[in-house]
Amino acid sequence: MKIDEYKKYSDGYKEQIDAELKKIIGELNYSADFKEVLEYALFPGGKRLRPILMLEWHNMFAPADYYALRFACGLEILHAYSLIHDDMPCMDNDDYRRGKPTVHKKYGEGMALLAGDALMDLAYRILSMPTPALEVGPFCMFKDMCGDGGLIHGQYCDLYGKIDNVEDLLEMYRHKTGALIKLACIGGFALGNNLDYKKCKAFLEGQSTDETAAADISDDRLLLNYTLASGFGEAFGAAFQLYDDISEYINGDRITSTSIMNYVDLDEAKKMLNTMLNDAADTLEALRGDTAFLRELLNRFIII
Ligand code: IPE
Ligand code: IPE
Ligand code: MG
Ligand code: MG
Repeated sequence: MKIDEYKKYSDGYKEQIDAELKKIIGELNYSADFKEVLEYALFPGGKRLRPILMLEWHNMFAPADYYALRFACGLEILHAYSLIHDDMPCMDNDDYRRGKPTVHKKYGEGMALLAGDALMDLAYRILSMPTPALEVGPFCMFKDMCGDGGLIHGQYCDLYGKIDNVEDLLEMYRHKTGALIKLACIGGFALGNNLDYKKCKAFLEGQSTDETAAADISDDRLLLNYTLASGFGEAFGAAFQLYDDISEYINGDRITSTSIMNYVDLDEAKKMLNTMLNDAADTLEALRGDTAFLRELLNRFIII
């Protein structure tokens, strides 16, 4: 895919995501001044990477769909909550994000704490919404990826965990950043293939002997594709945090104690990043479907 084509395609996704996010916030019953804080955290957005991944993994297998868009926005809202709290003085203590003052700098700490809480609550409500075909949304897959199996545990390890070596660090990355990205991919894939989230999760984790669950994903091709979506998300998720750390270093920004740049030199870090991106690209090789957009997306994260 050519770069201008990629840009047009991802801008199209961003427009849909932005319009739906505006609608979602508009529908809330909070007071106008609090809604302004929520909007401040969500607009203008960043890369909208997680919802774009979810939509792309869905749309590779099914026509565009309202529920996919709604769930994708739920993911972005969850991401926005995590950033508000991440920037607060008790965590990373950052004054700027996306080139403007962080939420607590602009509105104060109490407001930032509540805005993060409100967005987390909203995200969980959206992600547990039923669809005409499914009794429950991806929340049941997502909740451990946001809590003890993912983001919050990862943030705990980042701030309070014992990180002795690169392996510990990568494990922390997989939780704090990778889990949500991985779930964007498999969540989109599952919805696009009409897989029941609950059964799918239980079956793939080997906890279910329910025959109807097995029947849902017994098709070998489907199972292989699921594994590929998961492998792509896992490799790209960790690569993405490496990219973030290396970019901060190259741009001369403040390096946190849990940046990869405290563990290896620049050449080694770039090598690790590019290996992970190649691993993600390799999973696409085996996938049947149009992977041109995802390949171009991976190219955007190569650092030479
Ligand atoms: C920033 O995520 C936090 C990390 C997990 C590295 P993004 O780089 O996706 O943030 P935005 O939404 O594009 O600003
Ligand atoms: C943020 O990680 C990850 C989450 C909010 C879950 P970082 O603290 O490394 O990201 P930036 O540099 O603030 O965007
Ligand atoms: Mg942090
Ligand atoms: Mg931070």
